Amino acid sequence: MTVRQFKVWRGDSAGGQLVNYDVDVNEGEVVLDVIHRLQATQEPDLACRWNCKAGKCGSCSMEIDGMPRLACMTRMSTFEEDETVTITPLRTFPVIRDLVTDVTFNYIKARETPAFAPPKDVAPGDYRMQQVDVDRSQEFRKCIECFLCQNTCHVVRDHEDNKAAFSGPRFFIRAAELDMHPLDARTDRKEYAQKEQGLGYCNITKCCTEVCPEHIKITDNAIIPMKERVVDRRYDPLVRLGRKILRR
Ligand code: SF4
Ligand code: F3S
Ligand code: FES
Repeated sequence: MTVRQFKVWRGDSAGGQLVNYDVDVNEGEVVLDVIHRLQATQEPDLACRWNCKAGKCGSCSMEIDGMPRLACMTRMSTFEEDETVTITPLRTFPVIRDLVTDVTFNYIKARETPAFAPPKDVAPGDYRMQQVDVDRSQEFRKCIECFLCQNTCHVVRDHEDNKAAFSGPRFFIRAAELDMHPLDARTDRKEYAQKEQGLGYCNITKCCTEVCPEHIKITDNAIIPMKERVVDRRYDPLVRLGRKILRR
């Protein structure tokens, strides 16, 4: 066991500050272990959200040395022994207390996304999908809703005003997943992403992909294909001609 230095943000919606702590760390431990030891030995009222300690519930999202990460999956061996590790709440969402933020924004955006809607003449037990169609969107279903991608995207991280018009990368992959579903008949997901989800605000910086703990290729496999197909449909002269004929 060695004593390591930490700075942890303490405060609430009215304001706060970084507080220095020395905490014992055992070999093989993760940042969440350190937070739990800090709560057990020095600061019983330190607020932190977590649940599974296995990288699967998406609850323990925070910023560690400025990088959005899951605390339960960040090994202390990532850092030099003499380094002070700084732990702060997600920056894009309002702080409730200490390391806990209010992620309501994401649930609002989830509710705004039209749900899967199969054709009316297909009964639930009769849904059939080819394995190839299952495989295409399987990657997107690995999302654990940690919202690290939402927290990282500069469109909302640096511009609070954009939140109303921008759903964010987590919901672009949801739109792409439904777009790839052969039985989803409710709406045109590509047009929806463009018109309602603010897909056009994304300038493909790929920061969302870099922080995703499930290694979902958010930008390459969801955002770019959705953008390309919207562009194809809008500017392809044959598609436009076809649209005109159909409108007559
Ligand atoms: Fe988290 Fe990745 Fe899902 Fe974004 S896409 S919420 S980073 S698991
Ligand atoms: Fe944001 Fe990801 Fe696009 S970080 S700008 S949604 S590529
Ligand atoms: Fe569940 Fe970290 S505690 S992902």
